[in-house]
Amino acid sequence: YSLQAYHTFHLPIKSRWYIEYKSIEELKKILKEDLLKKHSFLHIGGGSNLLFIQDYNGVILHSGIQYIDILEEKDDSILLKVGSGMIWDDFVKYCVNNNWGGTENLSMIPGEVGASAVQNIGAYGAEVKDIIENVNTIEIATGHERTFKNMDCKYNYRESVFKKELKGKYIVTSVEYRVRKNPVFNLSYGNLKEALSNYDTITLQNIREAVMTIRESKLPDPNTFGNAGSFFMNPIISLKQYKKLQEKYPDMPHYPIDDKHVKVPAGWMIDRCGWKGKEHGGAAVYDKQSLVLINKNDATPKDVIELSQQIQKSIKDTYDITIYPEVNFI
Ligand code: EPU
Repeated sequence: YSLQAYHTFHLPIKSRWYIEYKSIEELKKILKEDLLKKHSFLHIGGGSNLLFIQDYNGVILHSGIQYIDILEEKDDSILLKVGSGMIWDDFVKYCVNNNWGGTENLSMIPGEVGASAVQNIGAYGAEVKDIIENVNTIEIATGHERTFKNMDCKYNYRESVFKKELKGKYIVTSVEYRVRKNPVFNLSYGNLKEALSNYDTITLQNIREAVMTIRESKLPDPNTFGNAGSFFMNPIISLKQYKKLQEKYPDMPHYPIDDKHVKVPAGWMIDRCGWKGKEHGGAAVYDKQSLVLINKNDATPKDVIELSQQIQKSIKDTYDITIYPEVNFI
């Protein structure tokens, strides 16, 4: 089964089986079947954060559960329950069209609703954890339904319990988001405010458009050059180490995490090490955003892996910082 269309790096990869389910009942049935008991399986979303390093000798599972339900309406907020297989950006569009605030800064992030809750997607100063109320799942081992409250998900920068201690144990079937009827605009990040100065008024629709314009200018369309967005996470380092680095690199950007830690942009370091636009086999560092590796010319998994390792080494040698991939190697 060709997976080339099912992951945004678009590498020529195959799996033995591919199953899409449309309901919780169907998923429970599949989990009981021999096929999944006998073979390894991998649950994917939009495939926008995956790097297949070889053919997958097992079952690829995908959620086709798609709906948006209004669970509760209050004076100032609405609680929405959304099926895990919904395209994330379709959900953002729906909220913005209704003038409900909370998702607009996360416009155009590729992928699906289920993965948004696993990955804690974030962009332009917003993280999805700030609007998630509950995450509904199925436990793989038992087929039982379990709801995780926001607190139970242990959210952090691009991190959750589903990526750590409970990795591979639960499948998200729907996510409950609380959105605001009286939106509060979040324009704190980088050039978002500047991008909005082109508009007469600030509305959710205008924020969405501004975010989309910035994203389009920096991030490659996977249909042109296969990619998985940011290839690495931005490393979090101690304030002490940052202060030392700042003496040598005064213009190194940083974002505060707490009073002892800062996050530094990996893209900036990769760029300063001269990687922007560099090619290795069919893989390359995107020339408008160094944090993104692209499938430029029929890249093989090996091309991408080697390029990423060379970059890691060069960042370690130059800044004494280890950067870790954000994409999942499968
Ligand atoms: N920078 C450079 N050169 C580069 C790339 C970046 O100098 O080639 C500098 C920028 O000028 C800026 C800083 O590094 O000062 C940060 O760059 P940017 O605002 O583009 O954001 P990022 O930290 O590289 C993160 C997310 C993106 C998200 C943007 C906007 C991670 C791993 N990535 O990137 O998420 O869209 O912020 O919020 O946190 C993704 O996850 O796939 C993704 C695209």
